Amino acid sequence: MSRSAHPAGPRHADVFPEAHYSAPAADLNVLDEKVWARTVTRDTDGALTVGGITVARLAEEFGTPAYFLDESDFRARCRAWADAFGPDADVFYAGKAFLSRAVVRWLKEEGLNLDVCSGGELTTALDAGMPAERIAFHGNNKTVAEIERAVETGVGRIVLDSFQEIVRVAHIAQRHGVRQRVQIRVTVGVEAHTHEFIATAHEDQKFGIALADGQAAEAVRRALALDGLELIGVHSHIGSQIFDMAGFEVSARRVVQLLAEIRDEHGIELPEIDLGGGLGIAYTSEDDPREPHEIAKALSDIVTRECESANLRTPRISVEPGRAIVGPTAFTLYEVGTIKPLEGLRTYVSVDGGMSDNIRTALYDAEYSVALVSRTSDAEPMLVRVVGKHCESGDIVVKDAFLPADLAPGDLIAVPATGAYCRSMASNYNHALRPPVVAVRDGEARVIVRRETEEDLLRLDVG
Ligand code: LLP
Repeated sequence: MSRSAHPAGPRHADVFPEAHYSAPAADLNVLDEKVWARTVTRDTDGALTVGGITVARLAEEFGTPAYFLDESDFRARCRAWADAFGPDADVFYAGKAFLSRAVVRWLKEEGLNLDVCSGGELTTALDAGMPAERIAFHGNNKTVAEIERAVETGVGRIVLDSFQEIVRVAHIAQRHGVRQRVQIRVTVGVEAHTHEFIATAHEDQKFGIALADGQAAEAVRRALALDGLELIGVHSHIGSQIFDMAGFEVSARRVVQLLAEIRDEHGIELPEIDLGGGLGIAYTSEDDPREPHEIAKALSDIVTRECESANLRTPRISVEPGRAIVGPTAFTLYEVGTIKPLEGLRTYVSVDGGMSDNIRTALYDAEYSVALVSRTSDAEPMLVRVVGKHCESGDIVVKDAFLPADLAPGDLIAVPATGAYCRSMASNYNHALRPPVVAVRDGEARVIVRRETEEDLLRLDVG
């Protein structure tokens, strides 16, 4: 056992004053329900179970690494969002977080709409039977072919992101003899307190049309002048993994101000506003996410208040949560392969996946938690870094965490809250085979996205 394994030794904060991990939990066997899917618990033998099935059985049947998704939790979260916003608002699940045909069917059954941002996501949605009118199509550079398909299939709204796209969509819609329902995505100039690469409403980035310099008002003028477009509203998405409602409130206020300006200039009141997604989830015990009903209340209060003061009819609100729905519902299960204690530093625990199944740690410095799940242990906590098997030292899954010091090769460990932006951003780096997604519910587990095989790799390599 390494010296750093003992909390009684030098305090980690003294050794690494810059370290940002907190002290180990009093009992590493206790699963913090904030970060785990709702049906996750430990059985009497100490093994983690989800949907009533132990991880040992799941690992045996489906292998590792693999994502296990708690279907009843996913459905419950869909319902919580739909109920919180009520019949006078629309919830669009952001498919980029994770999309598969099973997910589309669950969304459809639970009454949610769907936001897609590529032809591939659109195909998945339509193939699984999502009615086109319940789909919103996003993207800062949709191809002509994608726009054609969206218009032809009758997608409910296209969110316009540039002056070129306003003309392009209008032209294609006219050619098809339809008036396409559209929203204009505006950048409201809010600095969301999140990683630079996932903040989207400040001005110096690629999305949307800026409110500040009158560009958004000009975009509205142009859209209203084109026969192929029915402008139904304005859209704003300020970023991701946000806990502070202040950014959303500023965004809502500015969007409503734009509606008032449009009313004053054109004499029309646009019927809808979309406030995007971006609500944060708990990746570690330190994160405190808001509940959907609190979010719904905060947003609808601010919109109602601003509309009253601008003497506007309150528009229909829509939101686009992705991470907040799917993120907490899944965990990634790994098998421990090697364990390397670095004296005075930390212990490196290598698992059978890595940055190919979770790029978020390397890309955004994201924080995750981890637990030993095939058994409990009374051993002392040791400071670990969970790393993958890729040929890259930045291949880190969990930067700083504590696992029991008797951890051994063959143990199963799990990283919770990997439902969003893990499988959807997975890669084949080092010709890794992308892991399956297995939905678990009421004692049954079924593969909804199968594991990639070496034949899949060779099939694409037409040599
Ligand atoms: N609506 C729009 C227009 C978006 O661009 C996004 C996310 C969402 C909704 C959903 O945001 P959510 O509720 O899931 O935060 N790969 C990054 C996140 C990129 C998000 C891109 N757009 C990550 O892993 O954190």
